[in-house]
Amino acid sequence: MRPPFTSATVRALRPALDRLVAELIRPVVEAGGGEVVEDVSVPLPLAALSLAVGFSGDAQRRIRALTRNAWERMPKDSHPGGFWPAFVELFDQEIRRARERPGDDYLSTLVRADFQGRPITDEELHVMLVAFAIAGHETTMNALSHLMWNLAREPGLHDRLRAQPRLVPRAVEETLRMWPPVDHGSRLTQGDATVGGEVIPAGSRVLLLTGAANHDPRVFEDPCSFRVDRDRPQRHLSFGFGIHFCLGAHLARAELESVLVELLRHSPLRLRGRVTRRYENGRHVGFDRLPVRMVGGSP
Ligand code: HEM
Repeated sequence: MRPPFTSATVRALRPALDRLVAELIRPVVEAGGGEVVEDVSVPLPLAALSLAVGFSGDAQRRIRALTRNAWERMPKDSHPGGFWPAFVELFDQEIRRARERPGDDYLSTLVRADFQGRPITDEELHVMLVAFAIAGHETTMNALSHLMWNLAREPGLHDRLRAQPRLVPRAVEETLRMWPPVDHGSRLTQGDATVGGEVIPAGSRVLLLTGAANHDPRVFEDPCSFRVDRDRPQRHLSFGFGIHFCLGAHLARAELESVLVELLRHSPLRLRGRVTRRYENGRHVGFDRLPVRMVGGSP
């Protein structure tokens, strides 16, 4: 599952990604503002996944609604039967399309690939594509919203980043540290583990509080402040840690950076009215709406 998301692949996608970002932001600039969850945060991760993986326009349009449906159903009925068939129907179409029209995108290669001397089954393809679709859009969508929200409310940030563009990647990392889009993870201990002097016995269910770790004062000085001059802000755990470290981290970082660079080319954003952050599926933190306007000043 790694090839579409390596740093080299993402670097090669970057010009196309930057064009996509400019196209999404242009109407906001022309109108002097907009509702940037709908205009930018929702469409960009899905379009970026299409660039990286080769999803169709139809899939881009349907993945968001299917994911929302999955989150709404899960707390009431944890059995995947409720939401899985709709994903399978969509991805069967994508697989068929990729088999019929060979291209040089990743999906076209994947549907013809062998794994351990045999073709990859449709069931395996479904699991991989659903993982890309859900893990790759919801998280990045909420990270993008936090990036724009913070840019619109933090005084002087726009001007500082314009004056010192080398701080842009740090602003991205600091956004991910302060507001992790995935609020917590969970694990089952394989053996006894000692954490902070406490023994957690084998077979325990453990919640990993990412937001708390990202605000650990022993690691991050003045942890509750957004600081673009922070030393090594990328030490946060928002992309996880270890063997399950996020596969899409390079792509997500590229999307966030591209949006920030593009926004800095225009007038500063300000929030229009109050906005509220909310949880989806008990662990994804984001915004439903983010109305902004562009104000006079630089440029
Ligand atoms: C800001 C955006 C993102 C955040 C905060 C994020 C966060 C995470 C986290 C915390 C994990 C680890 C889960 C665990 O250890 O249980 C993870 C895994 C994963 N992420 Fe991301 N992710 C983001 C973007 C993406 C993108 C763009 C993709 C592209 C498809 C992606 C694909 C995956 C996959 C496939 C895994 C599973 C890796 C494994 O289990 O080995 N993510 N992500």
